Amino acid sequence: MKKLDDFRLTFGNRELVPIMIGGMGVDISTSALALEAARLGGIGHISDAMIKVVSDSKFNTTFVKEKLQRYKFNVANMDKSVVQFRLGELAEATKLHVGKTMEAVRGAGMVFINCMEKLTMNAPKETLTVRLRSALDAGIDGITLAAGLHLNSFSLIEDHPRFRDAKLGIIVSSARALQLFIRKNMRTNRLPDYVVVEGPLAGGHLGFGMDWAKYELSSIVAEVMAWLKNEKLDIPVIPAGGIFTGSDAVRYMEMGAAGVQVATRFTVTHECGLPEKVQQEYFKASEEDIEVNEQSPTGYPMRMLKSSPAIGAGIRPNCEAYGYLLDAKGCCAYIDAYNRTVEANPGVKKLSVKDKTCLCTHMRNFDCWTCGHYTYRLKDTTTKNEDGSYRQLSAEHVFKDYQFSTDNRIALPA
Ligand SMILES: Cc1cc2nc3c(=O)[nH]c(=O)nc-3n(C[C@H](O)[C@H](O)[C@H](O)COP(=O)(O)O)c2cc1C
Repeated sequence: MKKLDDFRLTFGNRELVPIMIGGMGVDISTSALALEAARLGGIGHISDAMIKVVSDSKFNTTFVKEKLQRYKFNVANMDKSVVQFRLGELAEATKLHVGKTMEAVRGAGMVFINCMEKLTMNAPKETLTVRLRSALDAGIDGITLAAGLHLNSFSLIEDHPRFRDAKLGIIVSSARALQLFIRKNMRTNRLPDYVVVEGPLAGGHLGFGMDWAKYELSSIVAEVMAWLKNEKLDIPVIPAGGIFTGSDAVRYMEMGAAGVQVATRFTVTHECGLPEKVQQEYFKASEEDIEVNEQSPTGYPMRMLKSSPAIGAGIRPNCEAYGYLLDAKGCCAYIDAYNRTVEANPGVKKLSVKDKTCLCTHMRNFDCWTCGHYTYRLKDTTTKNEDGSYRQLSAEHVFKDYQFSTDNRIALPA
């Protein structure tokens, strides 16, 4: 019986364990988690979501405080178009986060960064350019383009000295999205080094509508592989979303996948950025406690625990401090939802905004408990402590369980 360790993911002359831990913003996939994946011979991701917040908490910078100071005058104004990111600071924060992580890499594996296009930051093109270029400057091994079609993203970095040496990949949820990406980026004369095909059971935002349940990862993977074969394109395909055991992964490897991207099982590890209290909520969750909803102002459906404090909270938009989801005109769907709620409830102090959530604030505070579909199975991956709580795992334990397990088995911690 095969195990995932019988396969290797080949990138040029590098041979890797075919396990990629997916990016989880905001600092849920920490440097520590990504570094463990690399140490064990696989690929880990950090994320550049809300990078200034991450830099402040890790490196004692004061980017958020300074931005709030600068735009304090605008806090009560619902027009946020004046609230801009300073590109130099964005570059500095990215270089700190990426640079310090890369300095610490040990082992045969690699560390990539997850870069979401939907973080439009009130100046989509300018900010994405700085994010991508600074990550390359700071020595990241690879960039996974996420949450968006990224039709022009290669052109933003094509003159960067590392454009052809860094690994560049894209997350898609359909063959159509991949076709568009390749067609549009063709003029840079460079193909992606890998394609993550993410199905509807993943955590975070979904690349599907609210009819996500109609889709199946294995069919999309087969469709992408058939299209690549037909076009004679040799690009490694990495399925993601609901791959819960080593045996699940082996089934994809036998279909011809180059590796798998996994995340949910690592949300309950010591190295993961989620506070331990929140990890216990993930462990305790039953299938009925998880939903896909339209709370995210990005317009993408998102999967989360129904008990997330973010749902129904009514805080004033915090764009002067954060503002990562402001579009090119300084708008965010949460601001609109908040305004509608204020108008409908004159004089009410404590509001509850039902239809959208202030994702920046709640991701920053770990109050939006986004998770994969199989989060309800996490309780079966550990044992209980004497006080009845679930035992956190080590990233090494989970990684090795994926790598070596057979027969759909899940190893409990020793
Ligand atoms: C808590 C959490 C946060 C996530 N955040 C992001 C993110 O910021 N960007 C992204 O591209 N994918 C994100 N994802 C998706 C993962 O990177 C990954 O592709 C997917 O969850 C894999 O499926 P699995 O969780 O069933 O293993 C997130 C997943 C989880 C569980």
